[in-house]
Amino acid sequence: MGFFLEFLWRQLFVWLPTPNYDFSGQTVIITGSNTGLGREAARHIVRLGAAKVILAVRTPAKGEAAAAEILESTKKTSSIIEVWELNLSSSASVKAFAKRAQGLARLDAVILNAGILTTQFALVEGEESSIVVNVVHNTLLALSLLPKLRESAAKTGLRGRIAFVGSDLQYLAKFAEGETPGNTFDVLRVEEKADMDDRYKVSKLLLACAVRAISAESPVSDKSNVIITYLTPGACKSDLFRDPMGGFQALALAIGKTIIGRSTEVGSRTLVNAVRPNQDVKVHGQFLMDGKVASAGPKINSPEGKKLEEKFHKELYDKLEQLSPGVTKI
Ligand SMILES: NC(=O)c1ccc[n+]([C@@H]2O[C@H](COP(=O)([O-])OP(=O)(O)OC[C@H]3O[C@@H](n4cnc5c(N)ncnc54)[C@H](OP(=O)(O)O)[C@@H]3O)[C@@H](O)[C@H]2O)c1
Repeated sequence: MGFFLEFLWRQLFVWLPTPNYDFSGQTVIITGSNTGLGREAARHIVRLGAAKVILAVRTPAKGEAAAAEILESTKKTSSIIEVWELNLSSSASVKAFAKRAQGLARLDAVILNAGILTTQFALVEGEESSIVVNVVHNTLLALSLLPKLRESAAKTGLRGRIAFVGSDLQYLAKFAEGETPGNTFDVLRVEEKADMDDRYKVSKLLLACAVRAISAESPVSDKSNVIITYLTPGACKSDLFRDPMGGFQALALAIGKTIIGRSTEVGSRTLVNAVRPNQDVKVHGQFLMDGKVASAGPKINSPEGKKLEEKFHKELYDKLEQLSPGVTKI
């Protein structure tokens, strides 16, 4: 089956069970949890008995509103949810957030869910915005939190979990810009040459390369009892597609979402599944689709993909070291 037939099949016929795991006593961070998939994942994890769920959001007032609504629907006490500010457009905010997390008594799981889809080119801290938010600062946050997760796992005896929210659209990335010689970041920050219709897919492809590299460098062991994985929630009816789009493209998207899109609640089940307390170590470094290990995709499973992964690993680590010296020494 081709990508589109498989995609349609999954959207229409795959049933995702309601999460039924025991998060008792655990502390979980979920980024971008004021709305969409992140908020629904938070609702499940609160319902499933977590001791502390941290909503990591860029606008605290939106986080507080989401917290109140989740508490109302789950009938839990307000002390369970904390709202912490996190702006993934700012490396200073990411570092401040990670520093604050060092003070937690424990940290069992992190869902790196916040992300953007935009066709508008904009520079943020010198790089194109989707590359910064979806890739650079997401991985900066993960690497900055990894020591805390390891420490916590050693203390509690429970394996830590990190799940990055990727996308199966990475399979469709053309990434023609990647054929231009030179550093990937240098190539992607040139507005005149940017293919913004492809950029979200490219950001998720590069995120996949990064997650695979980080997980290979940090195998699950006594020293690092933390599973690192990435996933797709499938196509969901959220505000992700908030960019103004014109004409036929906007109409096609609206119709497509209405007919085959999952609700954010259903999509969020894949996020909760990825960080479930009894997660299998065999998913470490793997791409999860509907809760199962899926192919990393043609852009990665090829000799060119291997080269891209190695090249981008080095480029990303150089960048992360500039942002936070020592952060890649995992
Ligand atoms: N929906 C889908 O069909 C689909 C499919 C595959 C993958 N995904 C992935 O799923 C994840 C969640 O998306 P969603 O569909 O739930 O979209 P959404 O409703 O737009 O939620 C995105 C979340 O990310 C936050 N965010 C965006 N930029 C941020 C920044 N600079 N700093 C901090 N937070 C930021 C948003 O905060 P604000 O509300 O403040 O903007 C929001 O909380 C994304 O990574 C997306 O790529 C979604």
